[in-house]
Amino acid sequence: MDADSTAMLAAALGILVAFVASLPVLRRLLSACAGGKTSGKPLPPGSLGLPVVGQTLSLLRALRTNTAEEWLRRRAAAYGPVSRLSLFGSPTAFLVGRSGNKFLFSSPALGTMNSEAFSRMVGRRTVRDVVGDEHARVRAMMAQFLRLDAVKRYVGSMDAEVRRHLDAHWAGRGTVAVMPSMKSLTFDVMCTALFGMERDGAVRRELSTEFQQLVKGIWAVPLNLPFSTFSRCLAASRRGRRAVAGVIEERRAKLERGESSPADDIVTHMLANGLPDEQILDNVMFLMVAAHDTTAAFITFLLRHLDANRDAYAKVVQEQEEIARGKGPGEALSWDDLSRMRYTWAAAMETLRLVPPAFSMLRKALVDVEYGGYHIPKGWQLMYCINMTHWDPAIFPDPGRFDPARFEDPSAIPPFSFVPFGGGARFCPGNEFARVETLVAVHHIVTRFRWKLNAGCDGSFSRHPMPYPSQGLLIDIEPIQSIQVNGNTSSGI
Ligand code: HEM
Ligand SMILES: *[C@@H]1O[C@H](CO)[C@@H](O)[C@H](O)[C@H]1NC(C)=O
Repeated sequence: MDADSTAMLAAALGILVAFVASLPVLRRLLSACAGGKTSGKPLPPGSLGLPVVGQTLSLLRALRTNTAEEWLRRRAAAYGPVSRLSLFGSPTAFLVGRSGNKFLFSSPALGTMNSEAFSRMVGRRTVRDVVGDEHARVRAMMAQFLRLDAVKRYVGSMDAEVRRHLDAHWAGRGTVAVMPSMKSLTFDVMCTALFGMERDGAVRRELSTEFQQLVKGIWAVPLNLPFSTFSRCLAASRRGRRAVAGVIEERRAKLERGESSPADDIVTHMLANGLPDEQILDNVMFLMVAAHDTTAAFITFLLRHLDANRDAYAKVVQEQEEIARGKGPGEALSWDDLSRMRYTWAAAMETLRLVPPAFSMLRKALVDVEYGGYHIPKGWQLMYCINMTHWDPAIFPDPGRFDPARFEDPSAIPPFSFVPFGGGARFCPGNEFARVETLVAVHHIVTRFRWKLNAGCDGSFSRHPMPYPSQGLLIDIEPIQSIQVNGNTSSGI
């Protein structure tokens, strides 16, 4: 029996145990189904599948083999734009299309939620678990450090982090695995810019290790079985939480001694604003997940698409070299430089369209709701699939083609059709942070190195649910300096 079937068998056994232990969940499912009869409108078509696991394993398998859209498309073809299924132990309405997105982003009857595995690892008191005024309050505390004017102040430190990273992990090497490299870069940038953590400190190293493990379990079946991925992730999350709790204590002591100010970093700001400790802890855990893995996937796939589209690559190089020529040696990028990276950003948005880092986001019905002629009972999950919208040929003709020109005039894109950062009151507040970080990283990469896919790497990827390239995307690199000095143009594009 191979490792996969062993895992499936273990999962099946676990499910049996969970089934017996989960009669309250079952009752909830049954009452949720029964709820449909009272409203006059039918429940969305579909089926809830097996008790407790529902279609979870089937969807997770499809994600791993990168066929999740096909899987969801088959459902949409069979049942239409609204259908029901059961994921992670909850009945779920799956919505497809722009009007579905609009409903999910703007209906006040919906709250947001995380997957059960995510909640158990990261916490149940994050910004996504609160609604109304409380949501607005917590979100504003984060936004203080993520708004345009805040992000402008990070350009210099991001520039320094990127250079340091390339000196330490790219310079002098012939091949680089891009995804692991970008994960460690984005983790460092986040620790410096948002949490004011000491570089090379022990806490930062420990957190980086724990979070590498933790993110592997975000959409796992949340059963804490020995030797399962989820149990390893849960253990990593416990250690990570202890380290974060230590940081909170240290910041509180500094604040009380008058050695820091609320403007210094997010943790101190939250402490000064009286957010309870458990909420600070959960939100810091949340930010650490939200802020680094997504951006790492974004930069990685941008490099992947530039490699595969040499015209676009040449245009990006031209734009970035033009900017580099205007700088003195070692001079950091400025805000003004970033606004001149128009084509690079269009290529980046086209990458977000083709490979959105977030697969899907869950909403939760706070009351009974009605959509598309169907009744969705209170307590149900609602989900959309970002990639399905982005690959809809009615919105983006010839959707598989990489074409940055689609984004040369972003206002021409119809609403609710380009949704890599979600939308509405829950629109990702980190989008400016991610944009600036990506542009700074790409600037230094394209002006210092030429790259091409390594011959042993096929460039494919799977989803966990974050897109992860096979072999972490292995590329061959060559420093540009040596091309100029030696007149060796063999690696030119
Ligand atoms: C390319 C990078 C990123 C992508 C693709 C991304 C995507 C998303 C998506 C799809 C959502 C959910 C929106 C919804 O529910 O409709 C979200 C929420 C969120 N993101 Fe991001 N994100 C990225 C980077 C970041 C960064 C860098 C940060 C922080 C520094 C961040 C912080 C957050 C927070 C706090 C929320 C929750 C907002 C709320 O519920 O009010 N994200 N992100
Ligand atoms: C998006 O959907 C297309 C079409 O089904 C598929 O080929 C592609 O791999 C998917 N991309 C991601 C990032 O899931």
